[in-house]
Amino acid sequence: MRQAFRSSILHCLSDPGEEARSSAVEYFEDGLLIVEDGDVLKAGHADALLPELPEDVRIIEYPGRLIVPGFIDCHVHFPQLDIIASYGEQLLDWLNRYAYPAEARFADPDYAREVATAFVDEMLANGTTTALVFGTVHPHSADAIFEAASARDLRLIAGKVLMDCNCPEELRDDAAGGIADSRALIEKWHGKGRLGYAITPRFALTSTSEQLTAAGQLAAEYPDVWIHTHLAENTEEVDEIARLYPEHSSYLDVYDHFGLLRERAVFAHCLHMSEADRSSMASKGGAAAFCPTSNLFLGSGLFDLPAMRAANIRCGLGTDVGGGTSLSMLRTASEAYKVLHLQEHALPATRALYLATLGAAEALYLDDCIGNFLPGKEADFVVLDAAGSSLTARRVAAAETMDEKLFALITLADDRNIAATYVRGKRQLCGEKSGL
Ligand code: GUN
Ligand code: ZN
Repeated sequence: MRQAFRSSILHCLSDPGEEARSSAVEYFEDGLLIVEDGDVLKAGHADALLPELPEDVRIIEYPGRLIVPGFIDCHVHFPQLDIIASYGEQLLDWLNRYAYPAEARFADPDYAREVATAFVDEMLANGTTTALVFGTVHPHSADAIFEAASARDLRLIAGKVLMDCNCPEELRDDAAGGIADSRALIEKWHGKGRLGYAITPRFALTSTSEQLTAAGQLAAEYPDVWIHTHLAENTEEVDEIARLYPEHSSYLDVYDHFGLLRERAVFAHCLHMSEADRSSMASKGGAAAFCPTSNLFLGSGLFDLPAMRAANIRCGLGTDVGGGTSLSMLRTASEAYKVLHLQEHALPATRALYLATLGAAEALYLDDCIGNFLPGKEADFVVLDAAGSSLTARRVAAAETMDEKLFALITLADDRNIAATYVRGKRQLCGEKSGL
């Protein structure tokens, strides 16, 4: 089945950098995105593509809107949906006071399924079509999120948490049991449709060295499975790791030692890193999830994007809900701008878009199938609408260039400005907006 979408269209071909290189993006003011059987056939100027389009192809028009690739959230916890915006603590106290009690409720599979469905609907309402997702320690939490994603044909990577120490008793697995459950989930879900599995040790503080060893061995057995964990988020956490592992040169070195630093390993936060860590992460193919709303909300620190990119580390944006305060990648990108501004760095709008789309796809090693509109990629996309709120309508109308309009949208927009979200060329009904 062939369809075409006519609108302004913008996507990234590479990282525009701090200087916003225009060759890194393609913008079609009056564009056409042609989709066949859920994949991109071509994107280009409407006047060039319309004459060659067969007459029976349905054209869906979005005049005055902007189509961009579906957003990709590189780090989020679906079980923390109901504790987003919880007051007052930094990481370790926040985990004890809010996150662990919330995750304990997932002992109930029905509750897990209900939250997973709500989470996927929220993602889509915000234009997010792919995510790398933490479950809880319960294996059925992974089943729940995979089932919800599969029902929408979403490309989504998730895993059950491995956690066998330094946490409440009811949230503990054990080294052997956690690995056996992870293995069974890999066999059940990894590579099924658009789903992928991530071996998910919560962080080095909540796994024994026995569990980290076993997780590294499992990762070696399954080289195309992802690894998903947290790294160097909070100074108290970093100090505790140094105390527990005095023989290692850094927190990252601990993961490396256990075989958990490699391609397809994604580390959330990466705030307190040395140059040596950066070059080690880059050379081994590890990637970083930059989670600005969480880093500000939990008072964790400021991500140094220029240093990470200069070291050639793959970087994408993550919401880190519930430590993060929004599931919107637009809100997340806007906070990323502020985090960089505080460090006297720039974040041009096209680079922010890159971090939420192609850069995130690169961080997840999924850039062969998502992230932009090159022919053959899967047709996941978002229709942005400046008219979604009266303020964005005014501000975007007053902007002159595409960069200015995009920057205003990133800074001001929210889910009201997501006119539609498409997954493999199919419109998702949640997030339905009036006027279309
Ligand atoms: N580090 C270990 N667990 C967590 C978590 O749930 N959220 C965040 N932000 N950091 C963590
Ligand atoms: Zn997190």
